[in-house]
Amino acid sequence: MNPALILTPTPEALDRAARALTAGKLVAFPTETVYGVGVDASNQEATDRLYTLKGRPRDNPLIVHVASLSMAREVALFNDAARTLAYQFWPGPLTMILPLAKGSFDVRPACAGMDTVAIRLPGHPLAQDLIMRAGVPIAAPSANLSGRLSATTPQAVVQDLAVDLVLADGASPIGLESTILDPQAWPPRLLRPGSIGPGVLAEVLGVPPVIVENAQAPGHFGRHYAPQTPLRLDVREPKPREALLTFGPSLADGNHVRHLSASGDLAQAAANLYRLLRELDGLGRKRIAIMPIPHEGIGLAINDRLARAAKSTDKREGKGKDEGQ
Ligand code: TXA
Ligand code: MG
Repeated sequence: MNPALILTPTPEALDRAARALTAGKLVAFPTETVYGVGVDASNQEATDRLYTLKGRPRDNPLIVHVASLSMAREVALFNDAARTLAYQFWPGPLTMILPLAKGSFDVRPACAGMDTVAIRLPGHPLAQDLIMRAGVPIAAPSANLSGRLSATTPQAVVQDLAVDLVLADGASPIGLESTILDPQAWPPRLLRPGSIGPGVLAEVLGVPPVIVENAQAPGHFGRHYAPQTPLRLDVREPKPREALLTFGPSLADGNHVRHLSASGDLAQAAANLYRLLRELDGLGRKRIAIMPIPHEGIGLAINDRLARAAKSTDKREGKGKDEGQ
């Protein structure tokens, strides 16, 4: 357990956290997707510290979080598609890759040398309030060690990272990271599936997004979102030394079993996924067996994360550049 200061989010605590951010500190906070660990996106020293703390490769850029459309326009250039998407899905779990603007905030410390920026306006009221009080865009990757399971609770944050402060507000309701879309291309490219799926994006865009399998976006290769225990996917018959993660009705029971959703509800499964994987990871079993999860709705994103987590070897592994996130 790391000695972070964990605060319940009173107005005083939010002010304190906002002051800490503008003073260059690392503050973890809840978003509707997962917990993020934030720094002032224009502070080079603070972003350096964040990369070191997470063990994140320096060529993997961060998502810049804003509290309003006007703040977003100071950071990124919006084309028509990006404007439509922002009006439709912000605040919310959509990250867009856009060209950097020469506005009043210089967020290049968050961009790993790229001339684009990943930007999102989070839907969680505390995240919005915090960024508004800080008055500056906040770079925030998921609050976990690089390559590992994202943190969806304050407990998971302090398990992984010695941040300066944690604003604690229970579990993140969605439980999976935001959808990442590049609307500079036409049709827009879906780089990371999330709770905003290709169907609803197609409705808003009038054209289906191009789903980029194994996106070559920075930090998208190799093993990510991964527990230390190896995974076995689409399992119907678990083996004796395996822990088990079930989906749908199941008679399996015991200390080594966790249930994503007994009723087969995919949103509930997403919300439980990282927390339950962390619990099973702590048991020291030989493997974690995971029952099949339908590839529909947010199930696409769940299966995407599990496939990345299960990937044990990759040509680039060992070269130190593929363990991003
Ligand atoms: O839900 C989320 O998005 C959470 C919460 C905290 O907002 N954040 C999150 O951040 O998942 P992170 O750093 O774990 O993942 C950001 C992803 C990385 O895969 C990174 O490579 C990609 O966004 N990314 C950032 N900037 C990019 C860019 N300019 N072009 C392409 N991909 C980019
Ligand atoms: Mg991450």
